[in-house]
Amino acid sequence: MTNEHLHEQRPPAERDPVAGPVADAHAHRGGLHGERLHEDRLHEDRLHEDIERVLVPSAAIAARVRALAAVIGEDYSHADGRLTVVPVMTGSLLFAADLVRALPQRRMRIQLTTVSSYGGTHTSSRGSAIVGALPKHLEGHHILIVDDILDSGGTLRLLRSEFMARGAADVRACVLLRKRIPSAMSTPAEYVGFDIDDEFVVGYGLDYDDLYRNLPYVGTLRREAQRQEPRAGGGAA
Ligand code: IMP
Ligand code: MG
Repeated sequence: MTNEHLHEQRPPAERDPVAGPVADAHAHRGGLHGERLHEDRLHEDRLHEDIERVLVPSAAIAARVRALAAVIGEDYSHADGRLTVVPVMTGSLLFAADLVRALPQRRMRIQLTTVSSYGGTHTSSRGSAIVGALPKHLEGHHILIVDDILDSGGTLRLLRSEFMARGAADVRACVLLRKRIPSAMSTPAEYVGFDIDDEFVVGYGLDYDDLYRNLPYVGTLRREAQRQEPRAGGGAA
């Protein structure tokens, strides 16, 4: 990925792919909108046999993580020692691990949280609930939620309100992917890696029945690899 795709370098008309008040509300306090993907970068050498198409290759992810980390690092330059990164398990495992290592801040806390989606099938989520203990000692801390994908928005809405209620100084969200659907586009997210079409994707942390999280790229799943019967709800996102 080259720098001309970062929103700072885009012509004004292209800068804000998220039209409307949500994007405007966050524009003034930094942030990064979802990058558009270009066909010429959709290469991946070792493709898993269950993957139909690569949506975001590993090199594009790595470059985007560096770009996100640079902007986030700048935005939190005042918060050294009072930044708490909260990766949402399990989907953000790889993304969060790469992102925190790319951040310039050296003193930050990392506290995991697990959010479970109930009532969903393999490829959809409905309703969210926090599983287990909430991150502790958030009072006065700047919280950065890190998640794999913004879909219904339930996860981010739930975590934001929980953390604010526990006295966080502020709460922001960083997601690797955001689906171009109304529920996702209308959910506030300050840092967005890539905007993608409304497809079910796996890889780089994202799963189908806990499989494919280890793939270094994000791609779509072949139809043959998807079981037909719905899975029981309650799995970790
Ligand atoms: P939410 O609907 O925005 O709350 O997202 C809930 C969770 O659903 C995400 O963190 C993912 O774990 C999962 N999810 C949503 N869309 C996909 C997808 O396309 N592939 C894999 N997991 C997904
Ligand atoms: Mg998740």
